[in-house]
Amino acid sequence: MIDTTYETADSDRQFARQHSPAQSTAISPAQRSSHTGSQSIPSYMTEVYDWAYVNPSWVRWLDHDIVVKTLLFCNDRRLMKRYLDRVQSGMHVWQVAHVYGDLVQLVAQRVGQEGRFDLTDVTPIQIAHAHSKLDALPQARIIQQDAAVFQAEHAYDLVCSFMLLHEIPEDWKHRVVDNMLAQVSESGEVIFVDYHRPAVWHPVRYILQLVNRWLEPFANALWEHEIREYASHAEDYQWTKETLFGGVYQMVRVTRKAK
Ligand SMILES: C[S@@+](CC[C@H](N)C(=O)[O-])C[C@H]1O[C@@H](n2cnc3c(N)ncnc32)[C@H](O)[C@@H]1O
Repeated sequence: MIDTTYETADSDRQFARQHSPAQSTAISPAQRSSHTGSQSIPSYMTEVYDWAYVNPSWVRWLDHDIVVKTLLFCNDRRLMKRYLDRVQSGMHVWQVAHVYGDLVQLVAQRVGQEGRFDLTDVTPIQIAHAHSKLDALPQARIIQQDAAVFQAEHAYDLVCSFMLLHEIPEDWKHRVVDNMLAQVSESGEVIFVDYHRPAVWHPVRYILQLVNRWLEPFANALWEHEIREYASHAEDYQWTKETLFGGVYQMVRVTRKAK
């Protein structure tokens, strides 16, 4: 069983320092290739998620729509639709991490050539897979960066975390949420699609309890905490939560309160 008392390792702190906003490299819109300033990745990725996201042999098998459908108990299209419904042609969108299957192409296609789709991820093999999906779409830009520290030149119309928060340690959740809120425009929107506390009657609740105990040490936090609790200045924003599939999933939409 994985140690659920995981704390940020020194190597993670060093990684975060190396990639602090003050030191991150500005990337021009014309540069669509990965920013690979450092090949180091947070230690939780190799210690907890090596098989799922880091090891290329596993990643080759996992990066398929059917895997996403199975992992999400057939709610994949429903959850993706919630996100895609928020995307309009011409928008500038930042998705904080790669997702298996065709989601990234669907978002990039929807913003169209008048828009821009920026995708960050922290793992080189995920960046490579993203390139294989997005290189034919000039509106897409792929950046190897930690979502906790990525800084764009311009604010985004839409910033989305699709199933990332439950996979990152608590201090990362705080920093990713704050950074997403910091990168959205005054009138823009931040959305989170992720796990939530399932209803007690839901059979999936008991499956996920086992999964979280053995494979997902950072996921239970989203059963205990609202996503807004991770924001340093939650009171400055309007938070709207919708739960789906008997509370197993949530979609949270965040907009800035009028001043
Ligand atoms: C979005 S989450 C889970 C997605 C979902 N389970 C799926 O079907 O792919 C997985 C991705 O998050 C990336 N990731 C993990 N920590 C990250 C971070 N701090 N910044 C950016 N990407 C991160 C991993 O490399 C991986 O590609």
